[in-house]
Amino acid sequence: MEIIEIDVRNDAARREFFAVEQEVIHHDLPDGWERTYESFEKSVLQPDNPYRRATRLAAVVDGAWVGTAEVGLPLKDNTHLAEVELVVRPHARRTGVGRALFARVEEICAEHGRTTSCVEMHVPRGVAFESSPGARFGRTLGFESVHQEDHLVLDLPADVSHLEAASAGAGSAYEIVLWGERCPDEHVAQFCAMRTQMANDVPTGEMDIEAVVFDEERLRTGESRLAQGWIPIVAAARRRDDGVMGGYSMLMLPRGGDLVLQDDTLVMPEHRGHRLGTALKLATLEVVRREHPERRAIHTWTEPDNHAMQRTNADFGFTPRARLHELQRQS
Ligand SMILES: CC(C)(COP(=O)(O)OP(=O)(O)OC[C@H]1O[C@@H](n2cnc3c(N)ncnc32)[C@H](O)[C@@H]1OP(=O)(O)O)[C@@H](O)C(=O)NCCC(=O)NCCS
Repeated sequence: MEIIEIDVRNDAARREFFAVEQEVIHHDLPDGWERTYESFEKSVLQPDNPYRRATRLAAVVDGAWVGTAEVGLPLKDNTHLAEVELVVRPHARRTGVGRALFARVEEICAEHGRTTSCVEMHVPRGVAFESSPGARFGRTLGFESVHQEDHLVLDLPADVSHLEAASAGAGSAYEIVLWGERCPDEHVAQFCAMRTQMANDVPTGEMDIEAVVFDEERLRTGESRLAQGWIPIVAAARRRDDGVMGGYSMLMLPRGGDLVLQDDTLVMPEHRGHRLGTALKLATLEVVRREHPERRAIHTWTEPDNHAMQRTNADFGFTPRARLHELQRQS
């Protein structure tokens, strides 16, 4: 077996990398989240990201790719961290492929002074965490589960008419501002403040990560990179009295696909308790209904004890399909 570093700007390597990822998702988590080839390709074909560097590996046996890994290294924040994804094709498991890939991951971590590595792992409903291959593999390599989230899915089209009355109160005090790829200039400062608040507020359990501070440069860099492969939909609530932003919610639609990813939803602390979260999510859902009728489900992840968000999601009809574990190892 050989572990090679691959260049996803090479067409064949890019396709093979994506094929391995797809095979593993369909095998391990049939109802799982998947990006589209188009969103993956557009993301990786961009110039280097000043905020994050990614190294991609493949394990090759007799010319065939049997597993892949990606090591993401934040460059301007969290410089102690390595974000790892590692998958092995089902037919090649328990033959040391995962271990060999991880040995190279460890070398990359050491070369770049990374002392914490973390990996996301999904366990389907009804399967005990301890019995899943990822958990066993992780434990063998010294990882422990430090944070969990429910993976929730809402099938579309969804009937949410019962929520419109509940959020009507918010509508009289706030107006909903919508945008897509680019936040309007006049909202940038408040949007950056909310994104920073989100990074601080979102529950992350025992994960060894520092909250990112958003400034205009980070926001604009992220927006222009994201728009290549994804269609973003952002709703923000602006208080009519004084123009102060009270919260936002973001969806991301992989280009060329039929799924939607629900990303951040935040209501700023002093604006909580007015069903603003519901009003924001209704606004983004309405854009999907109107402009993207081909989308058949929304996927999101929420911490089990985040009662406000769990309640909002349940009101919309989201149901749990899997449990996400953040596994972490510190050297
Ligand atoms: C988890 C995964 C990467 C393991 O890959 P692999 O190539 O089968 O792993 P290895 O053969 O190198 O196994 C290394 C050790 O992990 C442990 N292990 C791995 N899979 C196991 C399983 N199904 N049951 C029990 N122990 C397991 C064993 O200790 C094994 O050593 P051993 O075979 O000498 O006993 C693979 O099952 C996979 O791709 N799963 C889906 C994606 C995933 O969960 N990725 C996140 C990993 S944290």
